[in-house]
Amino acid sequence: MTLYSEDNTLLLLPGPVAIHPRVYAAMDVPIYGHRTDHFRKIYEESVKMIRPVFGTDSADAYLLTGSGSLGLEAGIVNFISPDDSAIAMVAGKFGERSAKIAKVYAKEVVEIKSPYGTPSLPEQLEKAFEETSASLVTVTHNETSTAVLNPLEEIVKVAHKHGALVMADTITSAGGDWVKMDEWGVDIAVSGSQKCFGLPPGLAFVLASRKAVDHMLSIEQRIPSFYADLVMFKNAVEKGSGTPFTPAISLFYGLHESLKIIQEEGLENRIKRHHQMGEIIRESMKAMGLELFAKEGYYSNTVTAVKIPQSISWEELNKTIRKLGLIVAGGQGSMKGKIFRVGHMNIVGSREVLLAISVIETALNKLGHETSGRGIQRAQEMIAEHI
Ligand SMILES: Cc1ncc(COP(=O)(O)O)c(C=O)c1O
Repeated sequence: MTLYSEDNTLLLLPGPVAIHPRVYAAMDVPIYGHRTDHFRKIYEESVKMIRPVFGTDSADAYLLTGSGSLGLEAGIVNFISPDDSAIAMVAGKFGERSAKIAKVYAKEVVEIKSPYGTPSLPEQLEKAFEETSASLVTVTHNETSTAVLNPLEEIVKVAHKHGALVMADTITSAGGDWVKMDEWGVDIAVSGSQKCFGLPPGLAFVLASRKAVDHMLSIEQRIPSFYADLVMFKNAVEKGSGTPFTPAISLFYGLHESLKIIQEEGLENRIKRHHQMGEIIRESMKAMGLELFAKEGYYSNTVTAVKIPQSISWEELNKTIRKLGLIVAGGQGSMKGKIFRVGHMNIVGSREVLLAISVIETALNKLGHETSGRGIQRAQEMIAEHI
């Protein structure tokens, strides 16, 4: 018996995420042209409201139409010249993504690899700089594929000591965890709409510090690019002609509303909520006898990765969970079949967590992993402490 239809399913993926009704409502309005004062106002206000989410009051914010990977590409191609080398810190699938992009454009890319489930560490970067020079370091702040939060602030310190800029993939941290561009000195931070900003996929955000922008403008031999050319983008926006290409106008209406929601909740409260939801999910998983995939001390605020018990297959688990009206993610690449991942981004609160734990526990029990209700009990206890 299937109790839920596909369109009434709770989406707890690490992106795309469930969307606030106010954001849907904001997008469900007639399209004004993008060369209008109406759109320009939405764009300019969004630029102002998005900066604090990245912990900056002075960085340039480029709001691009495209997925997060476009932001990563723009965050790399505009800040190096063809003779520059890069170091890519890789601790999961998305670290690999940045490394792949860097390899398209940089003269040489040295990859610093950490085993999946463990973080990229500043001492690894220090060691790499003993053997190589690089003008750009790429690092994934929140590695969505392993649910590991990398120590960005310390990594930036090492990169700066060696004169390199840092391009941080903050796609699943910005809006759900602290990203302190100004305080930590992050040069370029990239995010996307379908994660903690709570929008449908389709927008990429590239924030570049004054230092990074000055560097970009000083590069004499720029690497050719067109859609990802931030200098063209900057010039068009600053001239008042708007974005150089047709933006995803409806998504911008949604972005404006979602940034208002973030302001209303308060960034600190929002991050605290993400943290609490993460804690409850992690503790409930442990109470059910499951093991977390990420190394302790480096847990993500926005996604939790859990090892699947050996007696159960991911296919069976996924099928059962979906029958009960929930969607979570499996493992990517070599982690396929070994872990599942629960996203706790955007509007996820106690109700969603109670439901998710209950569904996962029911599925585990049904498939022979007996838990005697310990998971949901732990979630209830922890939630009761907070209300
Ligand atoms: C950390 C991280 N980087 C990059 C990406 C790629 O973003 P997109 O699929 O929007 O291009 C994702 C998507 O899940 C991500 O989580």
